Amino acid sequence: MRDAAPQTIYLKDYTAFGWHAQSVALEFTLDPHKTRVRSRIAFTPNPDAPAQDFFLHGEALALISAKIDGQDVTPTLTDGGLTCAVPAAPFIWECEVEIDPANNTALEGLYMSNGMYCTQCEAEGFRKITYYPDRPDVMSVFTVTINGPHPVLLSNGNPVTASENHAEWHDPWPKPAYLFALVAGDLIAHEGQFTTKSGRDVALNLYVRPGDEGKCAFGMQALKDSMKWDEDVYGREYDLDLFNIVAVDDFNMGAMENKGLNIFNSSAVLASQATSTDLNFERIEAIIAHEYFHNWTGNRITCRDWFQLCLKEGLTVFRDSQFTSDMRSAEVKRIGDVIDLRGRQFAEDQGPLAHPVRPESFQEINNFYTATVYEKGAEVIRMLKTLVGDQAYADAVALYFDRHDGQACTIEDWLQVFEDTTGRDLSQFKRWYSQAGTPRLSVSETYADETLTLTFNQTTPPSAATADPQPYVIPVAVGLIGADGDEVLPTTILEMTQAEQSFTFSNLPIRPAASILRGFSAPVVLAHDADNAHLLAHDTDSFNRWEAGRTLARNALLGMITKGTRPDPAYLDGIYTLVNDTTLDPAYRALMLGLPSQSELANALHEAGHTPEPDIIHAAVETMREALAKKLGDALPELYAANQVSDSYQPDATQSGARALGNAALSLLTRRDAGAQAQAQYDSADNMTQQLAALANLIRAGRGDTAVKAFETQWKDDRLVMDKWFGLQVIEADPEDAFEVAAGLTEHPDFNWKNPNRFRAVFGSLALHHAGFHHASGAGYALLADWLIKLDPVNPQTTARMCSAFQTWKRYDTDRQSLIKAQVQRILATPNLSRDTTEMLSRIIS
Ligand code: PHE
Ligand code: ZN
Repeated sequence: MRDAAPQTIYLKDYTAFGWHAQSVALEFTLDPHKTRVRSRIAFTPNPDAPAQDFFLHGEALALISAKIDGQDVTPTLTDGGLTCAVPAAPFIWECEVEIDPANNTALEGLYMSNGMYCTQCEAEGFRKITYYPDRPDVMSVFTVTINGPHPVLLSNGNPVTASENHAEWHDPWPKPAYLFALVAGDLIAHEGQFTTKSGRDVALNLYVRPGDEGKCAFGMQALKDSMKWDEDVYGREYDLDLFNIVAVDDFNMGAMENKGLNIFNSSAVLASQATSTDLNFERIEAIIAHEYFHNWTGNRITCRDWFQLCLKEGLTVFRDSQFTSDMRSAEVKRIGDVIDLRGRQFAEDQGPLAHPVRPESFQEINNFYTATVYEKGAEVIRMLKTLVGDQAYADAVALYFDRHDGQACTIEDWLQVFEDTTGRDLSQFKRWYSQAGTPRLSVSETYADETLTLTFNQTTPPSAATADPQPYVIPVAVGLIGADGDEVLPTTILEMTQAEQSFTFSNLPIRPAASILRGFSAPVVLAHDADNAHLLAHDTDSFNRWEAGRTLARNALLGMITKGTRPDPAYLDGIYTLVNDTTLDPAYRALMLGLPSQSELANALHEAGHTPEPDIIHAAVETMREALAKKLGDALPELYAANQVSDSYQPDATQSGARALGNAALSLLTRRDAGAQAQAQYDSADNMTQQLAALANLIRAGRGDTAVKAFETQWKDDRLVMDKWFGLQVIEADPEDAFEVAAGLTEHPDFNWKNPNRFRAVFGSLALHHAGFHHASGAGYALLADWLIKLDPVNPQTTARMCSAFQTWKRYDTDRQSLIKAQVQRILATPNLSRDTTEMLSRIIS
């Protein structure tokens, strides 16, 4: 049971731990309900730390015995740990505890998933394994012994000895406890090998459960590509003889970068043509890279405290986005990232959960693995690179690795290497780390005497986290496009530092069109009355060309919603030309056919002072799609046919792009042929991308019943495919039915709600179904609340994350607001509600 009054922890209160942990030896004797953990830790006093009691974290542990220098001691058990009198000199701490992995449904600490043992220690899970200073600035060398009747017994580092039922591991690299991992079970290794640039042979293994062997090859190749890329681009080499990845079915997050033993949600690593979509493949490649890259940005250099989480996450997300850009199409990756940022991070930053990239306080750190820390954290690094330039970025990062290898660091350390490399003062830039909220950047233009003046204005709305935001340093990438479509000024970086600032461009005999915020050079909301039709036709920056189309679409939809106007012909004409331009990458053309999400439109309406009505937004989007289908009408069969892939399946950028465009065409075609082409595609599909897209269109066309049943029969034994089956039916449901579809699926015998992937398949999809979730009846809110109440005692972390579905409540009408509020209050009134969920909902409702 949790504390009655949750504690708030502050960044400003940081103090060092009073001891160094010189070495740690752990011995596990595995048993589902009675696992014994013995620890032996050599502590030495830390002369740099303030005087303090000796305190070790511990939760859900049964203490069997404790010794100091071989003598039995009786520690005082406190809330969340123990204290004990200790000598003023170095000493050996020994302790034995018993834990119950089979009943650990929270999936934090040591737990069981389908008969295998595995661990998840980030952020504060190690304290559920043994008593320990469970904080990232305590780094130590670990030796681990595992006893248990399992063919595979794994931990971090290199193997020392291994026999049936017994294994010893040694990790020579000092690490914080959150990077500890242990895996035991009946697993099969898919093997690989990599030789580092200095000639170290590294054995690679991807461990899976029997039956999943056929889904490993892609992940293994992604791992090798990541290892090579980090050598080539960042000069970072792997540092052990072994690199293991394990796939587990029950996992709260995507994956975890434990030293030498990454543990993955099976959805984030297992891939095959028949069972995974192209987007799954791309995501898996990115997550494998992300976890691998953490070996340097996170593990070799870690965080001093959890407030510094963005130090490893922002940087590692930025690195994995660079990797994907290099492996695939940089323009497509950038557009995808911005869509995602607007969908998740902007919603967070513009609502009650807004917090700085580096928060200053928290109650439960698990609630801060957010889009702001990760994705905005990566955007901040991207801006830093834009401001200092590629060479200075490379030099600063090299200095960071040199200076801080083996240390637990802060954002100050990170910024210091940039200041030292460039001589720049980054104190204003640092506001990107310390202030919450999305800046609004507006631009006005004047043109006279062959001179164009751009006047920029930045404001950031105040939030609970940042009452009085100060101006940011904003790198604004600008280009100018002439009337004939030529580039008059190539991309130039304007550095904005004031609340209002003007920049002039002279010698322009004809007024050009300004292309502003190219490549989305800063995470801001831009207001610019631009010539979007011209930019859609001619912008030489591929991101801004796409953005011009997106802005036309958004403005047209907002007009349709608020004024009842017709779909904008300029938008439809521009898209028509672009989509049929075969010189452009099919993947890019597919993105051009996308529309802003309904949630994004709701936010835009709210910002403009309107109350969003989800059913009206939904109807407007339908009307717009209908208009696109009509406009592209006769071109659709050809567009569809030209993008069918006949070569053998590859999940690469080229084939994926063709399928993306073919399926974008299919979704419009389905409006004209009542699903005939979708049925043909369903019947002939030989890969999941084609099968799932066809199924989605059949459901949308109202003729999906047979295919939905056939799909279930075909895939009932594949957990990951069945997650798609659960999710798709909710996503594609009519807004009137979405709640009932979701409720019906919870009655399905395979709705294993304790499995986070399955829970998210239904409820994550419901929350994403804007018009369905926000149905005026409030039934969507009530259903989600029922299930959050049920899940909370089982898995607080996943429950708390799903609470973000309610974060946008203040946008809506007073009826919806009170419906949501009532559900939030009902959850908050649940006895013994977890600290995780309590914190999230209190922040949302405040
Ligand atoms: N550190 C993991 C990652 O970004 C995410 C994670 C956090 C996983 C907490 C599990 C628990 O790569
Ligand atoms: Zn990460």
